Amino acid sequence: MKTVVVTGGTSGIGAVATQRIGSVPGTRVLLGARRGGLGSPETLSLDLTRLSSVKEFVGAIYDRIGDAEIDALVLNAGSQFPNIDHRTEDGFEMTFGVNHLAHYLLLRLLLPKLTYGATVVITTSDTHDPKINPLAPKQLDPEQLAHPPGRRRRTGFSAGFRAYSASKLCNLLTARGLADSNVAKLKSLTVIAYNPGFTAGTSLFRAWPLWAKVAVGVASVVRPMTRLATVEQAGTNLADLALGRIIPPVGHIYASLVNQQLLWPDPSELARRDDTVVGLWNDSARMVGLLTTV
Ligand SMILES: NC(=O)c1ccc[n+]([C@@H]2O[C@H](COP(=O)([O-])OP(=O)(O)OC[C@H]3O[C@@H](n4cnc5c(N)ncnc54)[C@H](OP(=O)(O)O)[C@@H]3O)[C@@H](O)[C@H]2O)c1
Repeated sequence: MKTVVVTGGTSGIGAVATQRIGSVPGTRVLLGARRGGLGSPETLSLDLTRLSSVKEFVGAIYDRIGDAEIDALVLNAGSQFPNIDHRTEDGFEMTFGVNHLAHYLLLRLLLPKLTYGATVVITTSDTHDPKINPLAPKQLDPEQLAHPPGRRRRTGFSAGFRAYSASKLCNLLTARGLADSNVAKLKSLTVIAYNPGFTAGTSLFRAWPLWAKVAVGVASVVRPMTRLATVEQAGTNLADLALGRIIPPVGHIYASLVNQQLLWPDPSELARRDDTVVGLWNDSARMVGLLTTV
């Protein structure tokens, strides 16, 4: 029996992936979610806006699987907010808190339960890269992302989208930090940061302003004439990465679905910098009250 733990499996890309993983005989899927999942994954309560919920979820996983170990961990949940005005229960900016920090804590707390040779997939986005998205970060200050300064603070959709792009850079950097860690080497982990690419038809865009929703709607309509991936394709690739059906080429961790093809490009310049990886890892550990080394 293989055990796979998933976040973000109730809708969109993650729902497709969760159902595909769950359909593999001998596979047990444990889904962390705010509401019940589709199909029949075992759903355990998880609200990424609260670090206490992350800890409770981890406790529930340990109880539920007993002596068994986790074969794959899929950190896929994500949200976009219309601005940077909202805070998590723990006082962090919502986008950073949900997309990055809660997942960082979850990863750290589940590391001891990952089996030798386990796979970790973290869903990132090519919006992290300034070559693709002009609002992507050109430098990273985790403290500023966590607690945007009150005065001079930009707000509104572009600030929200900047925060989203930065959080997706954090997802990629977390994957890099894990891949470089001692525990990844000792346990021979496969670590992947997965970019599904722009995928219309999920719930991700619900907080967008009307004009942007209309643009996404148009993209959905013209999609069959383009080479944009469907939700099905994006979810299938996520599942296949988690199941080890697609293996990263040596030295690559960034998998990117481009024109319906899974490629292994270099991530952004900032994502390739080791000081950025270490800086985020250490700041995140401090924010969630853990030691930096793993
Ligand atoms: N769609 C795209 O174009 C695109 C492109 C690049 C990357 N991505 C990434 O792909 C991943 C999946 O996105 P999607 O497009 O499939 O969006 P989606 O349909 O909105 O799915 C997001 C998932 O995350 C969960 N989630 C959000 N906030 C949560 C919270 N506070 N606690 C627990 N779960 C929470 C949602 O649960 P609920 O059902 O409870 O809301 C849902 O299952 C995200 O990480 C996103 O950043 C998407």
